[in-house]
Amino acid sequence: MNLLQEGAITFEAEGVFFNPRMSLNRDIGIAMAKSLGIREYLDALSASGIRGLRVSLEAGVRTVILNDVSQSAYQCILRNISRNDLSGCEAICCNANALMHLRHFETVDLDPFGSPSPFLPAAARSAQSFLFITATDTAPLCGAHLKSGVRKYMAFPVKTDYHREMGARILLGLAARELARRDKAMVPLLTHATDHYVRTYLRLEHGAKMADRCLEKMGYIEHCIKCGCFKAASDPRPENCAACGSPTILAGPLWLGQIQDSQVISRAASQISLQNKNSKKLLEVCGSEADLPLYYDHHRICRRLGITPKKADQVVDALREAGWRASRTHFTGVGIKTDADARDVEEILMLL
Ligand SMILES: C[S@@+](CC[C@H](N)C(=O)[O-])C[C@H]1O[C@@H](n2cnc3c(N)ncnc32)[C@H](O)[C@@H]1O
Ligand SMILES: [Zn+2]
Repeated sequence: MNLLQEGAITFEAEGVFFNPRMSLNRDIGIAMAKSLGIREYLDALSASGIRGLRVSLEAGVRTVILNDVSQSAYQCILRNISRNDLSGCEAICCNANALMHLRHFETVDLDPFGSPSPFLPAAARSAQSFLFITATDTAPLCGAHLKSGVRKYMAFPVKTDYHREMGARILLGLAARELARRDKAMVPLLTHATDHYVRTYLRLEHGAKMADRCLEKMGYIEHCIKCGCFKAASDPRPENCAACGSPTILAGPLWLGQIQDSQVISRAASQISLQNKNSKKLLEVCGSEADLPLYYDHHRICRRLGITPKKADQVVDALREAGWRASRTHFTGVGIKTDADARDVEEILMLL
């Protein structure tokens, strides 16, 4: 038997799915569970149970339910529960959708193969206070597989420089709409795109009025293929590009509201040990992102202008000095979030 170790848990994963490269995703999940003071947690698609077991032991969450439809995963979860003396954890072998239609849980975590879309309607019904979602189908989300994106997320992705954030916002858009059908609203606390996946943490609010207000934060992105300009729009009626006059194309519907809550993120970051540099750094950048949709790839703009790109921090400082809002983004090291338009960004880059 090959025993593995992650965080405080010793576990086996033979014959079940386990991806050690997702440990950063789980580390951050544990920090979020701890800092949010979560009391009940459903790991709806558990595999070995590693995620839920860590939430139980490391975040001290009292009631943890570990579910997987596969018999062999269920048996593996039972052995891992007893191996770690976590007899308070409940193991269930059920279709996650059936379970989430039968029971409510304070917190639901979805970590499926590929798209969470087949589980979102039931999760939106079941989750009472928090919904955590991982999506590993970045090709449909980010516009590389257009038809699949439309089928899974009921939204048109467009392949652009800012495709990683657009994908995250398409996922958030579907979550907002599924929750609204249940008279619930969402407040995104932390959203990150890392490696091959998007991960988001949502706090939920109840009531039709809250849901209506939440849906007001849905919209579209008008994108100019010719010059790379983009702008958020509430209507699906594309206009010509304000900068170059070319026709624009639309991405969406997608979430245009806030995707990070800097206070929650800084509390979560304080739960992560100094040794865990990648997770800490990621949270630091997410927490300092300007609340503005999407970003410009300043390297690409510089290439078009035929100039040498400066450091991203210098570009951010120059934009701020010129009176614009600006920040870096965790979505890419060459991305600049700003309320300046493409022309203003070009002007600043030329002056640097
Ligand atoms: C990506 S793995 C989960 C990984 C795990 N959360 C982790 O952090 O290691 C997805 C799991 O979902 C299970 N699964 C697939 N469809 C399911 C369903 N309808 N209901 C419950 N479990 C399901 C699979 O058996 C698989 O173990
Ligand atoms: Zn244009």
